[in-house]
Amino acid sequence: MTTFWSWYITLLTVGSLVALFWLIFATRKGEVHKNPTEQTMGHSFDGIEEYDNPLPKWWFMLFVGTLVFSVAYLLLYPGLGNFKGLLPGYEDGWTQVNQWQREMDRADELYGPIFAKYAAMPIEEVAKDERALKMGGRLFASNCSVCHGSDAKGSYGFPNLTDNSWRWGGEPETIKASIMHGRMGVMPAQGPMIGEDGVRNVAAYVLTELAGRELPEGTEADIAAGKQIFSTLCAACHTPAGTGMPMMGAPDLTQPSAFIYGSSFAQLQQTIRYGRSGNMPAQGDFLGNDKAHLLAAYVLKLSQGEDK
Ligand code: HEC
Ligand code: HEC
Repeated sequence: MTTFWSWYITLLTVGSLVALFWLIFATRKGEVHKNPTEQTMGHSFDGIEEYDNPLPKWWFMLFVGTLVFSVAYLLLYPGLGNFKGLLPGYEDGWTQVNQWQREMDRADELYGPIFAKYAAMPIEEVAKDERALKMGGRLFASNCSVCHGSDAKGSYGFPNLTDNSWRWGGEPETIKASIMHGRMGVMPAQGPMIGEDGVRNVAAYVLTELAGRELPEGTEADIAAGKQIFSTLCAACHTPAGTGMPMMGAPDLTQPSAFIYGSSFAQLQQTIRYGRSGNMPAQGDFLGNDKAHLLAAYVLKLSQGEDK
């Protein structure tokens, strides 16, 4: 801000405050309780008249309070032009960013060593530490539950992290890599290549032979032809047995309970026809290594909770 505008704002603000002080004291007359007058202002609206009494004291003090508050505020915080305020601890003046940074620094100082201690331990060991798991749970609630659910059981499009079925792998370091760098699963659309009949046949094959479920009644599909398509088109990513390839994030098709896009015949066809692309955003940049380490331990522990 140029010096001119800085002074312009300062004078306008201070001037208004002075004027308000004057106004509130100048219009105050008499003492409330000693001699309330019966005198009226002399005007009448629909028969309602106004007494000529001063403001009640508590009301008057509220006004004075706000004025005093504003003076204190303008002294401590930036508000008057280029004046940065006198709040202690803020050399360049208070700003929201400065305050946030200060709180983060203080938290790092306080908790940093605890995170660092766990980050130096192997993830499997951290997963046995009661206190670390509690901290992990809180981190999970604030950073991950929006997508994976507060119970980490996932929902449509978001994988369940409490089961033992992994799209990218359940090794401790692999889980940590998923968290740090994010994951992008790309299942290309197959519809254009194999046509509607092909989609139906291969979906029928996946549903019955791989996932071990029944076809809906009255479905006509050539499962043998579907198997043929699977081994030529799908096996490259999902492996010939359909058990998935963690390197590409291609899921195990023999575990329908872990499908994130649904395991009904219609949903399978939808997936195969149009493809899917799930995206887990990288968390490393703002969580940092130590917190991701703790979260990996938490997720590992969750997956060990259920049947292995
Ligand atoms: C290029 C590798 C690739 C090929 C080829 C491929 N897939 Fe996939 N498939 C993936 C990936 C990666 C995912 C996970 C997508 C995601 O996470 O969003 C996936 C997901 C799926 C799913 C969804 C599972 C769930 O969790 O809901 C089904 C079903 C499926 N594929 C079946 C097939 C079939 C059938 C074929 C052959 C017609 C096929 N895929 C071909 C890589 C592939
Ligand atoms: C914006 C939504 C979103 C957020 C936030 C998110 N995730 Fe994910 N996460 C996903 C999706 C989607 C996938 C599946 C990616 C795919 O299709 O392969 C995934 C996959 C994963 C995987 C791999 C699962 C497997 O089967 O291999 C792990 C582990 C994971 N997330 C942990 C976390 C943790 C821990 C956090 C919090 C720090 C988190 N995620 C935050 C959406 C999210």
